[in-house]
Amino acid sequence: MIFDLQWNFTGFQNCQASCPNVIQKPTVISMVGLPARGKTYMSKKLTRYLNWIGIRTKAFNVGEYRREACTDIYCSHNFFRADNVEAEALRQKCALMAIDDACNFLQNGGEVAVLDATNTTRERRKLLFDIIQVQYKFKLFFVESICDDPTIVEANVLEVKICSPDYIGMNKDEAVKDFMRRIEHYNSMYQSLDHATDKDLSYIQIFNQGERFLVHKLAGHLQSRVVYYLMNIHVLPRTIYLTRHGESCMNLEGRIGGDSALSPRGEEYAFALGEYLEKEKIANLKVWTSELQRTKATARHVDAPVEHWKALNEIDAGICEGMTYEEIQSKHPKEFAMRDQDKFHYRYPGGESYQDLVARLEPVIMELERQENVLVICHQAVARCLLAYFQDKSSEDLAYLKVPLHTVIKLTPVAYGCRVEFVNLNIEAVNTHREKPKNVQPQRSSNEALETVPDHI
Ligand code: SIN
Repeated sequence: MIFDLQWNFTGFQNCQASCPNVIQKPTVISMVGLPARGKTYMSKKLTRYLNWIGIRTKAFNVGEYRREACTDIYCSHNFFRADNVEAEALRQKCALMAIDDACNFLQNGGEVAVLDATNTTRERRKLLFDIIQVQYKFKLFFVESICDDPTIVEANVLEVKICSPDYIGMNKDEAVKDFMRRIEHYNSMYQSLDHATDKDLSYIQIFNQGERFLVHKLAGHLQSRVVYYLMNIHVLPRTIYLTRHGESCMNLEGRIGGDSALSPRGEEYAFALGEYLEKEKIANLKVWTSELQRTKATARHVDAPVEHWKALNEIDAGICEGMTYEEIQSKHPKEFAMRDQDKFHYRYPGGESYQDLVARLEPVIMELERQENVLVICHQAVARCLLAYFQDKSSEDLAYLKVPLHTVIKLTPVAYGCRVEFVNLNIEAVNTHREKPKNVQPQRSSNEALETVPDHI
């Protein structure tokens, strides 16, 4: 990998916990590149990541606007010919609608809009610049995907493009042929970002899916985060296995936090997990656990190198560590009620919130993105945060995701998302899940306890 960094890029340092996501100006991230260069893949993935770290982000796909606006007109690659004046006017109109919606989103509380479109001509990019940066005074960052490896392009066309709504009812070979002609039409007009001509723009160019990068005029923290993320993701096939530790002695007592050993059923799960993974026959599996003994013990029968991450430790329950929920409710009724009102943002006194946990887990996600097959053995709150990233769940849903004990969650990347399978290894365990309480009462004074059901983190 060659890094050609033209702008004082010092690398991203995770400072989210100490400096929250303060974005001075809303930003439009505009994709650039020929069709089948992974722009939609990157747009979706980046949008999911930014939302997960708490930056309100939305993607706007110009192809979808075009399909909505002109259902009767697209019948072949001819729609994309440079000399098709009528179609060009429609395409321009659709691009403008997407830009308009993106700017509206940013004017109404959005922080980042991702414009998923080809934007392959200088004229189109000038239009973007004039609207986004000059008229609205938003920041504009271009992400160009350049790929001259025909095997990558072909694989992309076969994997996602021929399943596009444009090709419903068309046979596969015809669809591939038509899409390749479409690429040729774009190619005849393509003007790549260029150091001499585009010296005032901020952009990253990604060559052959991350073989090489060129970063130019990074402007601010958000852009450096985006660059860091894009430099870490890959498209190799792999599976991430996510599980909680086996049932612990403190689980049996309904106590939260702590560092207890596994219960006899937890030990059984550890053994079953080793057997299950052996049957899966996973190449170069790595195992990551927290630093707590129940996750280390759960890894004991897995035949693979193990690393321990402090970042994977369970949410810190502060003054409530080691207590049962009945104890918390009677000793700290106000805290107990406050947590029900906003579980994601609620921080245990002297401890952490789910929001803090997401910040703590950000380097874990980044490293997971770099890796191939990994088994992560962690804890309920931690697993919820990781699962929310892969499943693109909102922060509101995150804290209530179901992650049962003695279950392996298999996460396999597919086209634009992630397939999630829950594999229960059939060893009984206590149920530590509690549904989101209905009719949560507004929080009152500290000694007016609200009636709620005990929770397990
Ligand atoms: C499309 O219409 O599918 C792509 C639009 C674009 O060129 O950005």
